[in-house]
Amino acid sequence: MSIEQLESIAQAMVAPGKGIIAIDESNSTIKKRFDAVGIECSEENRRAYREMLLTTPSLGEHISGAILYDETIRQKTKAGVPFTKVMLDAGILPGIKVDKGPQPLAGFPGEVVTEGLDGLRERLNEYARLGAKFAKWRAVITIGEDSPSGTCIEANCHALARYAALCQEAGIVPMVEPEILMDGDHDLEACYDVTEVTLRSLFGSLYEQNVMLEGTILKASMIISGKSCAQQASADEVAEATVRCLKASVPALLPGIVFLSGGQSDRDATAHLNAMNQMGPHPWPLSFSYGRAMQSAALKIWGGDIVANVAEAQKMVHARARDNGMAALGKWRG
Ligand code: 13P
Repeated sequence: MSIEQLESIAQAMVAPGKGIIAIDESNSTIKKRFDAVGIECSEENRRAYREMLLTTPSLGEHISGAILYDETIRQKTKAGVPFTKVMLDAGILPGIKVDKGPQPLAGFPGEVVTEGLDGLRERLNEYARLGAKFAKWRAVITIGEDSPSGTCIEANCHALARYAALCQEAGIVPMVEPEILMDGDHDLEACYDVTEVTLRSLFGSLYEQNVMLEGTILKASMIISGKSCAQQASADEVAEATVRCLKASVPALLPGIVFLSGGQSDRDATAHLNAMNQMGPHPWPLSFSYGRAMQSAALKIWGGDIVANVAEAQKMVHARARDNGMAALGKWRG
């Protein structure tokens, strides 16, 4: 695939007023979400839940793509239509999570490095055959007393860049996600500093591995106060710090940046994105790739009755997509 084709997929992912729904929870993560609403984590329930999400009427109005999990990209609707076909018919690009999750980083207690490079070329080729147009790899950085170490940042960014190069070789747009966790009592400034160092390291690694930025999307975490920090920054402070940090570390050539929600409330995730876009124009479209902030409210409704509440849950999915789509334009009215 040519760079122009990768570029046009990347641009479609961040089309004006559109963003991504992340439904790529591993089976152990979706079990936690199902447990919270009292739903058994069986393969059929996972399939039914993802069918509810992906068949939301008019989802494509505000959603450009969905990130799936290995099990999900192979699944079909109850009527036997592959999820990937449902998505393409709705104008939604299929994406796939390809990392194998974070593992303890040897020699650095408490820090993790994301694994999954072994066999990745073969897996990407299979996902491309199954219809994946983009992929996601998430690195996890924790802010603590003595962390993150430079080694942790470099190891994760190196892996992200190796993954991104393999994606482009397979004709798949890499979404590179270095997530700085919200956990901790650090302030906004500490989050800014760690994010800036991480993003600079990431773009250095992408350059070293010959990754074409024109065909790459960044999935970033926002600059926010740690969850247990006494002083919580306002929406305007979050927006200002996040945009400043991105401008200091992300090349303008990148086609777009999408944010994860990371445990923020639905309202905060939308309000922060909206505030950033009201400060625009910026060098790149700023949009969303939310998991929890797209799904939580709908999952609660669906969990109440997984057969009778499908339409009601879908209305909530559409409402969250519309709110976040408006925030991607800076036009959300609250
Ligand atoms: P959250 O929006 O729930 O953080 O999930 C996004 C995601 O894909 C994390 O990798």
